[in-house]
Amino acid sequence: MNNIKEVKLKINKERIQQNILELGEIGLSDEGGVNRSLASQADIDSREWIKEYWQKNIVKKITTDVGANLWGDYPYSNEKELAPIIVGSHNDSVPEGGKYDGALGVLLATEVTQTLAENKINLRHPLKVISLTGEEPNPYQISTLGSKIISGVVGQDYLKRFNHIETHEALSEAIDRLGGDFKHIDENTLAPNSFAAFLECHIEQGRRLFERNEPVAVVSKITGIYRELIELKGEANHAGTTDLKHRKDALLAMSWINLELRKFLSEFEPCDPVVGTIGFAEVKPNAANIIPGEVRFNIDVRSGNWEKVQQTIKFLDQCFMKLEEKGLKLNREKILNQKPADLNDKIIDALSETVEQNFGYQPQKMTSMAGHDAANLAKIGRSGMLFVKSIDGKSHCKEEYSRIEDIETAGNVLLNAILKLDEELD
Ligand code: GLV
Ligand code: MN
Ligand code: MN
Repeated sequence: MNNIKEVKLKINKERIQQNILELGEIGLSDEGGVNRSLASQADIDSREWIKEYWQKNIVKKITTDVGANLWGDYPYSNEKELAPIIVGSHNDSVPEGGKYDGALGVLLATEVTQTLAENKINLRHPLKVISLTGEEPNPYQISTLGSKIISGVVGQDYLKRFNHIETHEALSEAIDRLGGDFKHIDENTLAPNSFAAFLECHIEQGRRLFERNEPVAVVSKITGIYRELIELKGEANHAGTTDLKHRKDALLAMSWINLELRKFLSEFEPCDPVVGTIGFAEVKPNAANIIPGEVRFNIDVRSGNWEKVQQTIKFLDQCFMKLEEKGLKLNREKILNQKPADLNDKIIDALSETVEQNFGYQPQKMTSMAGHDAANLAKIGRSGMLFVKSIDGKSHCKEEYSRIEDIETAGNVLLNAILKLDEELD
């Protein structure tokens, strides 16, 4: 067993690069995008890859919890009664996404743990590596699922309502199919402060690091997200014979809302932004010569400033009221209403000091405009995140890319921050 003070550890750049490529093959389409949506075959295959890799290279014990999250236990720790340090991210992806969102955090957690293990470093705290279930929006209409379950944000009763939007498979069945245990979800959440720290490394997914040409930044806050699913009903009719005056075009109504929302949001200050997106839409009957009678779509509104999100929801209420006055029928279902989450100061300081000491610059502290599992875990314990530069700010698309040099920096920051927190925290 080695004492950390005697060795200067570094992660293995070639190995992490190889692992990014290998995991990135799972769910890869002919167009070059990664498709690993919750409970898909590729989700299952990527879990198998992770478990096999952990088993072979790092951990003695792998468990799948009630929410189908994968956990691996690092073997060398002195003070087993201390709460564990948890490090990881998610293995699922958006449709036609990149190889880095989520996967990089799992692989860097894996790489750091492997580096510690091969040097037989004895930590004070137990260390656990985690790959979380269903972080991305998916056809079951619930995101950050695994972290919501373990942090007690959602329970069995609430989750019973979710089904796959096309196959109608119940979410409960999907969770069990992935190795979870839906029946016992409520009894197996993490107790508040039952972990010493949760750390997630993730690509930035924006342009701020790219523009300043800095490899990593520390996240201080995670955006609030409001998301709803809307069913808007107009009237299907003949696209040629129905004059403009007698149409109730559901797609036109959705488009109008989208434009109104954009106008409204552009009035907010760019330094404290609010963004809104219709990213999912289904048109019925979806034929060239029929006026769309029905649309089903999501609106996603985000900001670090929750008050501004509330103002935006009020504005949407008014828009929808105008559509009802015009005879359209609607059904709105709130599917996410998550306030901004402040991350833990001790972790923010540990990450910032590690960057300064090892790389000689003061990292930016930023609000993440992407949602993350760390926001749910922040409700019950110390939670922190490190961002890696995204080339051209691209993410949720196949062009998503981070350079291996920046990934290496992030890995070494993560490794040293874990060692620092292991010393400092109880
Ligand atoms: C997750 O990637 C999100 O921000 O929607
Ligand atoms: Mn994502
Ligand atoms: Mn992600």
